[in-house]
Amino acid sequence: MKYGFFDDLNREYVITNPQTPYPWINYLGSQEFFSLISNTAGGYSFYKDARLRRITRYRYNNVPLDLGGGKYYYINDGEEVWSPGWAPVKKDLDNYECRHGMGYTKILGELNGIKTSITYFVPLNTNAEVHKVVINNKSNVEKNIKLFSFVEWCLWNALDDMTNFQRNYNTGEVEVEDSVIYHKTEYKERRNHYAFFSVNAPIYGFDSDRESFMGTYNGFHNPDAVFKGEPTNSIADGWHPIASHCLEINLKPGETKELVFLLGYIENDPDDKWEGKNIINKKKAKEMIQTFSTIEAVDRALDDLADYWDQLLSKYILDSHDDKLNRMVNIWNQYQCMVTFNLSRSASYFESGIGRGMGFRDSNQDILGFVHQVPDRARERIIDLASTQLEDGGAYHQYQPLTKKGNNEIGGNFNDDPLWLILSTVSYIKETGDYSILDVMTPYDNDESKSKPLSDHLKRSFDHVLNNLGPHGLPLIGRADWNDCLNLNCFSSEPGESFQTTTSKDGRVAESVMIAGMFCYIGEEYARLMEKVGNKEEANRAFAEVRKMREVIMEHGWDGSWFVRAYDDFGRKVGSHENEEGKIFIESQGLCIMGRCGLEDGRAIQALDAVEERLATKYGLVLLNPAYTKYYIEYGEISTYPAGYKENAGIFCHNNAWIMAAEAIVGRGDKAFDYYTRIAPAYTEERSEIHRMEPYVYSQMIAGKDASRFGEAKNSWLTGTASWNFVAISQYILGIKPDFDGLIVDPSIPKGWDGYTVTRQYRGDTYRITVKNPNHVSCGVSKITVDNKEISGNILPLFGDGKLHEVEVILG
Ligand code: BGC
Repeated sequence: MKYGFFDDLNREYVITNPQTPYPWINYLGSQEFFSLISNTAGGYSFYKDARLRRITRYRYNNVPLDLGGGKYYYINDGEEVWSPGWAPVKKDLDNYECRHGMGYTKILGELNGIKTSITYFVPLNTNAEVHKVVINNKSNVEKNIKLFSFVEWCLWNALDDMTNFQRNYNTGEVEVEDSVIYHKTEYKERRNHYAFFSVNAPIYGFDSDRESFMGTYNGFHNPDAVFKGEPTNSIADGWHPIASHCLEINLKPGETKELVFLLGYIENDPDDKWEGKNIINKKKAKEMIQTFSTIEAVDRALDDLADYWDQLLSKYILDSHDDKLNRMVNIWNQYQCMVTFNLSRSASYFESGIGRGMGFRDSNQDILGFVHQVPDRARERIIDLASTQLEDGGAYHQYQPLTKKGNNEIGGNFNDDPLWLILSTVSYIKETGDYSILDVMTPYDNDESKSKPLSDHLKRSFDHVLNNLGPHGLPLIGRADWNDCLNLNCFSSEPGESFQTTTSKDGRVAESVMIAGMFCYIGEEYARLMEKVGNKEEANRAFAEVRKMREVIMEHGWDGSWFVRAYDDFGRKVGSHENEEGKIFIESQGLCIMGRCGLEDGRAIQALDAVEERLATKYGLVLLNPAYTKYYIEYGEISTYPAGYKENAGIFCHNNAWIMAAEAIVGRGDKAFDYYTRIAPAYTEERSEIHRMEPYVYSQMIAGKDASRFGEAKNSWLTGTASWNFVAISQYILGIKPDFDGLIVDPSIPKGWDGYTVTRQYRGDTYRITVKNPNHVSCGVSKITVDNKEISGNILPLFGDGKLHEVEVILG
């Protein structure tokens, strides 16, 4: 069942039923001011850091769903009270539509002849969210309505705001001047920032104290002031500061009125902090309000935003016979990658913005998905990440975006982490050709006195694996590898706490075949990079170590029909036919094959066949099989999940992409693409009532075949699934792959396809690559012409002339 439709021309998903199976959200902002907004206007805003600079309040885990706070509007038309976004009043509307687009959301509600549309967006280079409100009287009678706006302020630190009530109920402070409500809690003693909510018209009244506005025992759905049609002009004094404007609006038949609301964030310089005694200096706010005081200015900002997205989405454009594929590749997958760039894993409807900052592993992988869109920002991100690396090559697992400092509470010791830094750096260089990043002096542990060129960080990342090998010569897993929940060194801790501690036992010898596969895949990239920069000795050393690791994998990491997943702390196999449960895991199959293990002797194919037989379901590939039904303390968190959820045999969409890549590598394009379509959101749209999450973005997990809610997704938006699936489809399946010396063309597609065209902007040139498949094969390039001249090999030449180059590729 569908709840809307894709409008590809406008790059929008249009929701036509407000009661989606779960709130379907969008993100606003691309620099420093961000908002989450659901299809019924729930959500919140923050500046840079969802934990430390929360601007508006949101309650997670709320009842009813999504009534945790939002950017709400209410209309009292004299007879009825309703909200154009359906929520919070939830009055049935004559017409409802929510258009989630690139960096904006437009919600339209109509009742009793009054049509109201609200476009929410964050203009470029602006620390504010604009609400463009357009109200139209479609009836043939005059209407007199009262329009109420509503936001609830958060007292900046989101964690403190939801825990420290004994203090915080005393601190709230506001100022109201003209049509602007300023939130200045804690401005006095230790802050230089404040927020405001304004409207570009005279107001009838306002409220800034929540209880006065709502009534003590009322909710967002029935605020007293709105139902009475009378704001109370309250000034918050402690408790819960809010901002609500009330406007009287008269509309002749057919008449339209337009308003601009602005929710802004200001940081003052120390010198211009005060205007008078305890009166904040509002100069910057007034300038910002002035900038967006007219509809024309707002429309210009919307156009600028559209241009910005045009440009970001022009780097890789697919023209194929499959609309679903086109919209995934051209619009939504790339859009989601940019959102993961902005937010990492911090703030979504499943991440509270408090728990997690920027992940080292996560953010490095995210880079693969957006480096072609914003290479300069990717470069900066790589350096930020490398600056949190530790001197032994390990890494802080997370850092806070506001401080960019490693998070001590979580520490390091996830032994896959360092390798991802190599991969992100290599992908940056392959995209840009900019080797100078390797010379950037980059601190260890954020300590400038410990700065070394980035190339030194890569070497230490590589060596971190070699310095931490276990009894079989495989990499030690540490606290966990990519699979956070496979905690093999923790058996000696208390049940239920096992995944939080490492161990008190001597030894800690658990090994990861997955890291071994990663080492072959990423270590080889490192070796190639060293070759490119002329460091022959290091290149040879690295190639040799990779070869050695491959041999170790084939000797100790092969289980007969597939790759073993790990060795536990007792030296027993995990992910082997020897196990009763969890006989086969997905990760080592994908990464060992990406690391070119078993390609020559047929073992790669054997492993992929085992994946198909044991892990494939109609909704995607489960992470392991059979699911754990018992708690194995020696495996840690993984077996604490009920069978079929999360890492315990859920469909973890991130690693499905590694199997797509592996299938593409072995030349089975039909299978690679089949797996792609099983989880790609646009292909799940028709079964939204089962899938439940947004049909325009990936979710981290879909319940696996062992779960009673098989096919139900959770944790949409902030997941490495976005970048890896973009890599799988754009580089491995469609086969347009940046490399050190140019774009490699190496498709691995379904045999039935006749062909497709990819327009790729790359290092200043544009390549229009038309792939033709006259013999209906999956892979193998028989001929390539560039500007009508045949080339040898499959690397497209670099021109550096900024022009369009026509490429024709014949498969067969
Ligand atoms: C984490 C990733 C991890 C994955 C699998 C996600 O929640 O953000 O870092 O690789 O789970 O455990």
